[in-house]
Amino acid sequence: MRLDKYLVWSGFGTRKGVKKNLIRKGAVKVNGKVVRDSSYKLQKGDIVEVSGEIVPWPTEHIYIMLNKPQGVITATEDDFHGTVMDLIDHPLVHKMFPVGRLDKNTEGLLIITTDGILGHRLISPKYKVEREYYVETEGKLNEDMLRQAKEEGIVLEKSGTLMKVKDYDIIENEEDGAKLHMILTEGKYHEVKRIIGACGSRVSYLKRLRYGPLSLDEELEPGQWRELTEEEVEALKETVGLQDED
Ligand code: URA
Repeated sequence: MRLDKYLVWSGFGTRKGVKKNLIRKGAVKVNGKVVRDSSYKLQKGDIVEVSGEIVPWPTEHIYIMLNKPQGVITATEDDFHGTVMDLIDHPLVHKMFPVGRLDKNTEGLLIITTDGILGHRLISPKYKVEREYYVETEGKLNEDMLRQAKEEGIVLEKSGTLMKVKDYDIIENEEDGAKLHMILTEGKYHEVKRIIGACGSRVSYLKRLRYGPLSLDEELEPGQWRELTEEEVEALKETVGLQDED
């Protein structure tokens, strides 16, 4: 980990601040030697001191991409069903939570993390983070209605909720069913199913392919997961205004 990031994560201020006020001023030592380069790469076991005080290794957040299989629920615990957390074999799993929800019968990209600030922003409607879905339906779609959902939004009959589609791409639309991609930004409850319902059809298969800048890794089989790379985490943070300063 970079020296400036280490100090930011340890609570010494922003990246700019630690660079200017601590590192450049010679207040930081690594293994007993002053280091003035904020990009200095620390190795596990290095001893970092600020003004003579040892700074313990900060706890890093964990970020995971899971290809959620059908049949498990998105929750941290449940008395009756298997949860997505049961699939994560990681020593810190008890500190993690899923970012948003996928229905029990929905597959695909689910982010799981210990980072509450990032997780909260990713689901907040304020940041309008794109979620892209692949959808298969039973019954022909009313394409005029879907166009209206994109152009103006549609008001659902039962609840009166206004639903909007950011974009869509119909692959096929026949009497016995349709295949399409949809991009949504609101994260409302059952949003794909409700919009498809309003378009006169019914979802028979649903898979999330992308969340903001993060696409589902095609190497992951349903039920498999991997940690995100540093670049992927940075890209997610950037989407919601949490990028590192400098
Ligand atoms: N919209 C739905 O209807 N279900 C999901 O799981 C995700 C989005």
